[in-house]
Amino acid sequence: MAAAALDWVVDYHDRIRDLPVAPATSAADLDALLAEPIPVAGRDFGRLLETFRKVIVPGSRHNGHPRFFGYVSAPGTAIASVADLLASALNANLTAWRSAPAPVQVERLAIDWIREALGFDDRAGGLFTSGGSMANLTALAAARYRHCGAEVSTLGVAAHPKPLRIYASTEAHHSIHKAAALLGIGRANVREIPVDDRFRMRVDELARAIGEDRAAGLDPFCIVANAGTVVTGAVDPLPQIAQVAAEQGLWLHVDACYGGFARLAPSVSLLFEGLERADSVALDPHKWLYLPADCGCLIYRNPTEVLGAFALDADYTRVLHEEPAEAHAFWDYGPELSRRFRALKVWMTLAYVGTAAIGEAIESNVDCARYIARLIEESDDFELMAPVELSIFCFRYLPESLRGVARSDADEQELDRLNEQIMLSVQRAGGSYVSNATIRGRFAMRGCVLNYRTTRRDMEVLLDDVRSAAQQHGSHVRDG
Ligand SMILES: Cc1ncc(COP(=O)(O)O)c(C=O)c1O
Repeated sequence: MAAAALDWVVDYHDRIRDLPVAPATSAADLDALLAEPIPVAGRDFGRLLETFRKVIVPGSRHNGHPRFFGYVSAPGTAIASVADLLASALNANLTAWRSAPAPVQVERLAIDWIREALGFDDRAGGLFTSGGSMANLTALAAARYRHCGAEVSTLGVAAHPKPLRIYASTEAHHSIHKAAALLGIGRANVREIPVDDRFRMRVDELARAIGEDRAAGLDPFCIVANAGTVVTGAVDPLPQIAQVAAEQGLWLHVDACYGGFARLAPSVSLLFEGLERADSVALDPHKWLYLPADCGCLIYRNPTEVLGAFALDADYTRVLHEEPAEAHAFWDYGPELSRRFRALKVWMTLAYVGTAAIGEAIESNVDCARYIARLIEESDDFELMAPVELSIFCFRYLPESLRGVARSDADEQELDRLNEQIMLSVQRAGGSYVSNATIRGRFAMRGCVLNYRTTRRDMEVLLDDVRSAAQQHGSHVRDG
């Protein structure tokens, strides 16, 4: 079975560039091919592999295609495909050292490499999670615990005398709001701080908001800074925010899910100065470490502070080992008990390619984003809608009638509508894929270069694909 499947894996990695990026399919089409009652009798593996090849693969979007620019999506690496297979075969369950001694040490080693790459000293530690949303949730639970102690874990947030407050910029990822909702803090208690013209948190507004909330009897406990926002890739001014957090005695969490690994790329690494002053940092190996889903990561500057936040009180979680490394239990640092061996693909990828190659690949992604920004700025049919900070670019198409003229509200609405149509056409055509964003209230096509296969030539092809799609829609545009 494995040999037959691996033939497909090898072939897929070789020809991914030639596949349509997104499938031309519908839920009804897929249902017609897949839906059936639960099988009572088993069937041959060859038939299942056939369904995989003929229905599942063509019905999938190929996130590893060099012109898949949607969302923040990694391509996957060949070595990680193999590592995931090995991890499932070994079926280690990384609850604690006693359950999986070598796998737990591999996870601790991989975490150690990442904390070093981020600039933390050797007291820092952490764990892999299912993804960035889980890492953000875990960090906010830890922050709440340091502030409220065991009272809230035992009696619930209602036992806390004042409403808890979190500060994050208007550009923060929604997983922060979701975490606040899940932790009983409430979405409305995530106070959104305005940003500057490069979409970075305004530190003067942050300090003002905290002071205002304290005066109103609210209870600030945590600041969430961005190191690569999901919409434009902005990196908040980390040293200044760390200063406010220190002065105010607040937990500083940095959401570096998208941007964190870009610290390895020389031309942007300075943006991440101050990251090591955070109490916690979330970052996603299944984003800019290029790994297949799933794999998020959370680093604590001082892991001993969170002991107690996730405490379990059950016989089966009593640790009887004396030696500290052998007493290590991941359940003390996050909400999950059973955990798959995600660390194998992180460790294998880092050890196989090394940080120099990863830094070069990230640098090349940043270069591709800067390159397309330059092409857009030099053209008269496209408009760049946000500065390129890392590898995200936001732009829109301008029809001839709306170039170089003052535009009314109606024109702006027309541009929104037209660009939405163009984006959908590009996605349907299957040559390239961009997703959407709202920039200062206007519709933008948004791309994120996050693939070691992508070249400058791919950026030119993307613009050609957008122009072709625009030609299909051009006749609908009002004369300006
Ligand atoms: C800045 C940021 N934070 C958090 C997340 C959530 O990560 P995940 O999809 O791994 O849960 C994303 C996802 O794109 C992100 O870009």
